[in-house]
Amino acid sequence: SSDEKRAMAEIHELLAKLYHHCLLHTKQGRPALEYLENRGFTRESIERFQIGFAPDSWETASQFLQKRGLDLNTAEKAGLIGKRQSDGKPYDRFRNRVMFPIWDRTGTVVAFGGRVLDGKDEPKYLNSPESKIFHKGKTLYGLNLSRAEMRQKQHAVIFEGYVDTIAAFRAGVTNGVATLGTSLTDDHAAILRRNVQSVTICYDSDRAGVEAAFRASEILTKQGCTVKISQMPDGMDPDDYISKFGSESFLKDIIGASLTVMAFKIQYYRRGKNLRDEGERMIYIEEIIKEIARLPKAVERDHYLRQIASEFNLSLEALKQQQTQTFKQLQ
Ligand code: CTP
Ligand code: MN
Ligand code: MN
Ligand code: MN
Ligand code: MN
Repeated sequence: SSDEKRAMAEIHELLAKLYHHCLLHTKQGRPALEYLENRGFTRESIERFQIGFAPDSWETASQFLQKRGLDLNTAEKAGLIGKRQSDGKPYDRFRNRVMFPIWDRTGTVVAFGGRVLDGKDEPKYLNSPESKIFHKGKTLYGLNLSRAEMRQKQHAVIFEGYVDTIAAFRAGVTNGVATLGTSLTDDHAAILRRNVQSVTICYDSDRAGVEAAFRASEILTKQGCTVKISQMPDGMDPDDYISKFGSESFLKDIIGASLTVMAFKIQYYRRGKNLRDEGERMIYIEEIIKEIARLPKAVERDHYLRQIASEFNLSLEALKQQQTQTFKQLQ
């Protein structure tokens, strides 16, 4: 019911304030604050993104809610507290974690992501489950903060994670959002398309990130977005890059140097191949032709076929033939 949704939202709002207070103004929060400072978080970004800390305790949140007369069953449904099997006693699910509030499009806190401080505890991020107010496949982290800028620029940047979005915001990318580990959905793409014309995908530069970027690019293209992909050096993510090379380089050499999807693939498939070797060259050309065959526009296919023909000194006729064959195989 809408009453339950309202109660759930109220609980999230209150806990976000509690966690934020614990981070900034309690002794228990000190290690978390130091952790964030060491990672380059400024006070400004801690404020803007309302970052908090859930103390290392089983009852901070549950007692806080109880004292205010809020319904613990509602908090349980939202995955914030659990109930002990033996006696039904409530306990906090988020403990000893840095807390990132997740907002819906109106700016109401509807979920949390909680990160461990050291690398030892699993999982690294504990996220709220789906609930009546939190639908992962329809939520873009940071949209409430970046939407105005996005619309004005008619351009959005999408990241994998909380920390990337926040670091990039500090670096000047104020039109960024994150999909939070899930793959980009049609709903995500439709939301973006309603706000912008073009999107740059800036996922982690590891295999998983690149593959996710290819899938996301198809979904976004299908929704009518113009898509580019940017890439960091191998193995890095945007936050790593900004920490190491700074904001200016991130804006210029990474975001500013993003490539159209096909241009990105043309250089990506090249990696680790010796194109002077005939066998490897043929494999490469076949991979690229497969990608070209999937392009929806004849003009685009023609453009890239010519590019390949000229680079490798092949006849355009032969490439076209092979592309037609590949296209049939893909059907
Ligand atoms: N994620 C998650 N659960 C995990 C790992 C990741 O929900 N166990 C989500 C988080 O939203 C995370 C995103 O996937 O931000 C990207 O994952 P990853 O690249 O592993 O984390 P980072 O964002 O780089 O986080 P950090 O820099 O804090 O390690
Ligand atoms: Mn504050
Ligand atoms: Mn990743
Ligand atoms: Mn990452
Ligand atoms: Mn990271």
